Amino acid sequence: MAMLLLGLASGPAVSAEDSRELVEMPAMMQEHMLANMRDHLRALEEILGHLAAGDVGEAGKIAENRLGLSSLDSHGAAHIAQFIPEAMAAAGTEMHRAASRFVIVAQDAELADGYDGHRAVYGALQAVTAACNACHQSYRIR
Ligand code: HEC
Repeated sequence: MAMLLLGLASGPAVSAEDSRELVEMPAMMQEHMLANMRDHLRALEEILGHLAAGDVGEAGKIAENRLGLSSLDSHGAAHIAQFIPEAMAAAGTEMHRAASRFVIVAQDAELADGYDGHRAVYGALQAVTAACNACHQSYRIR
C-alpha cells in the first residue's frame, strides 16, 4: 500500500520539484486568466467534436474565434500582458498563431478531402496543444 501511494505521489501530476516560474498577478486577473484557460479546453473539446462529426469548417471557426489571433481582444490579452513576462506572452502569441494556422489547414482540408487532409488537420491541432503545454511547463500563477 505504501509503495502504491509512493508511486502515485511521484507521478507526473504531483512532481516533487516544481521548476515552473511563478508569475504573480492580482487575484482578479488570476480568475480571469483561469476562466480563459477553461474556455480554451472547452474550445478544444468542441473542435474535436466538430472534427468527429466531419465538420472541419465549424472546427476552424471555433479555433479562430476562441483560440486564434481573433480571440485576443475578447479575452483581454492586452490587459494581462502587463503582468506577465515577455517570454510567457510570446508563448501565448505562439498558441494563437498555431490556432490560426489550424484554421488555414482546416480550410484547405475541407477542399481536399482525404487521408492527407486529415493528417494535416491532426498535425495542426497537435501544434496547438503543444503550444498549451509549452507554456504550462514553464509558468504557474499560484
Ligand atoms: C501563455 C501561457 C499559457 C498558454 C499558451 C496556455 N495556458 Fe493554460 N494555463 C497557464 C497557466 C500559467 C495556468 C495556471 C497554472 C497554475 O498556476 O496552476 C494555466 C491553467 C490552465 C487550466 C486550468 C484552469 C483552472 O481553472 O485551474 C486549463 C484547463 C488550461 N490552462 C488549459 C489550456 C489550454 C487547453 C491551452 C491551449 C489551447 C492553454 N491552457 C494554453 C498558461 C497558459
